[in-house]
Amino acid sequence: MDEARRWLRAARRVAVLTGAGISAESGIPTFRGQGGLWRQYRPEDLATPEAFDADPKLVWEWYNWRRSLIAKAQPNPGHRALAQLEERVPEFCLITQNVDGLHERAGSRMVVRLHGDIWTLRCTHCGLSCKNEDPELGELPPRCACGGLQRPGVVWFGENLPAECWQTAEKASRAAEVFLVVGTSAVVMPAAGLAAVAKNAGARVIEVNADDTPLSGWVDASLRGPAGKILPELLAA
Ligand code: APR
Repeated sequence: MDEARRWLRAARRVAVLTGAGISAESGIPTFRGQGGLWRQYRPEDLATPEAFDADPKLVWEWYNWRRSLIAKAQPNPGHRALAQLEERVPEFCLITQNVDGLHERAGSRMVVRLHGDIWTLRCTHCGLSCKNEDPELGELPPRCACGGLQRPGVVWFGENLPAECWQTAEKASRAAEVFLVVGTSAVVMPAAGLAAVAKNAGARVIEVNADDTPLSGWVDASLRGPAGKILPELLAA
């Protein structure tokens, strides 16, 4: 912890990659491990274009459930610590796989959302995107004014990440002196590969996670515990 703190204090360029674990203490279940199942389904069963084509109502029921949990959730000390870190680092980029918007609600400004936004709906017919922050969507699946089926504005397995977001994330990872990886199982590519991009370009990589991940043996510092406790400690002045 002490060494990681020193690296962070000295760094002028910092990039952070977050995953579902940072929102776990806000009451939002992660995708894998404990609480990862919804009914009998795994995220890989539902978060795909094929699953949506086969049963859009089922997929929407899952997203509706997540939307209702997120609507009740508040940012936690982990989100807030990262928002404060942004204030004191000259070049900062927060890359998140989360679609819950809690980083922004905690005050983070430079947020790259690799996997989209759960409050955005996109028409599968005309392509129109719209914001809908009502946690309950009424009749499922929701429909666009054109009559087409709407889908969640998130990135599913097998889909490309938004190109501009990816370029920004990669550039920030390559430039970073310190790269923080927080609350991600680091198994979903290409996001998980950003830690290697940063390390290969010379960054110190610090992991914060409640458990071991495939990155744990390879990072420069692995801090074990809940992000809401570890991040405020790590970033304490
Ligand atoms: N603090 C820190 N880490 C935590 C906490 C906590 N309080 N609680 C859980 N974790 C860790 C778990 O140990 C796990 O490593 O968070 C990680 C959550 O992993 P996943 O559920 O796999 O979430 P994530 O890595 O964000 O998944 C990546 O997969 O399902 C897709 O698109 C979805 O963005 C998601 C992507």
